[in-house]
Amino acid sequence: MATVTMKHLILAPLRGFTDAVFRNTFQDHFHGIREAVAPFVTSIKGQRIKPSHLKDLAPADNRAMPAVPQILSNNPDEFICLANTLVDLGYQEINWNLGCPFPMVAKKMRGSGLLPHPDMIDRMLDKTLHGISGSLSIKTRLGRFSGDEMDRLIPVFNRYPLARVIVHPRTGVQMYTGNVDLKAFQACLTRLSHPVVYNGDINDLAKFQLLESGFPTVTGWMLGRGLLANPFLAEMIQSQTRMINHRNTRFEEFHDNLVAGYSRLFSGPGHVLDRMKGFWRYFAADFPDGRQIMKQIRKADSLDRYRQVVAAVFDGQDRWE
Ligand SMILES: Cc1cc2nc3c(=O)[nH]c(=O)nc-3n(C[C@H](O)[C@H](O)[C@H](O)COP(=O)(O)O)c2cc1C
Repeated sequence: MATVTMKHLILAPLRGFTDAVFRNTFQDHFHGIREAVAPFVTSIKGQRIKPSHLKDLAPADNRAMPAVPQILSNNPDEFICLANTLVDLGYQEINWNLGCPFPMVAKKMRGSGLLPHPDMIDRMLDKTLHGISGSLSIKTRLGRFSGDEMDRLIPVFNRYPLARVIVHPRTGVQMYTGNVDLKAFQACLTRLSHPVVYNGDINDLAKFQLLESGFPTVTGWMLGRGLLANPFLAEMIQSQTRMINHRNTRFEEFHDNLVAGYSRLFSGPGHVLDRMKGFWRYFAADFPDGRQIMKQIRKADSLDRYRQVVAAVFDGQDRWE
């Protein structure tokens, strides 16, 4: 019998969505994802650690899906302090966020705001790699303003023993709009001396297959919004078919356990409601009457009302079976 090799699929960090509750609930209901990069933790002044920042990364809550913690920082001493605390918790790889596009972050020269400054990145890598006990990977965009910034970044990245480089081939100023630049990604793949992970707009099986055949040397594939909209996507990619049995019931059970998980985490139904409304911005995209559903869910003014609306949505739909 031919052996089927599992593709290395990674859950993307999506702050406000892919926290430990989501990661664990996802793992209880779906297959195909090998690991996650967790949403970023920001380093803070004075080499202090805020216990609340580490809550999502408590080892006991991260057994189901292996997670790589991610740090947003431009200060090597703060980075080392936070990274070594995470290594002491048992994490072997730490990811450095060089992609965050939000102007508030980028203007402070963090995330994608560092990309026009390869000299600063160079100094940061030099210092942190001497100071941390685990390995370091990075998640980057092509640049902040232009993909040309990569020309100066790649020689810097190549000077250091990075575990891997995750590339989302957009610029920071693009935010999440426009197209991914696959030509620029190919150039990164050719020139980077590290294992490279592809990330960006993997929304369906056909798109994945196209990317996989175009970039056979990629070592991993990171899925974000596409997986939120269709949590079966990793299974489809692994099994190379869009045919999944019992989708409606499986999705409903997943949804209900997500609500239960957030009800345990948050100290009030309002927070659970807000979080679930956030998820529906993605879930709704996979329903034929998604706009209408979203309208009703947005209007729900209590968790009880939300449950009624969602129950009616699940009752009334025959989207997959
Ligand atoms: C709501 C939201 C939150 C995000 N949070 C993070 C984050 O904490 N760290 C990070 O590196 N990227 C973050 N990203 C970017 C995603 O990880 C990913 O790079 C991007 O969405 C492209 O991949 P996709 O098209 O598969 O979603 C975030 C994106 C969104 C939409």
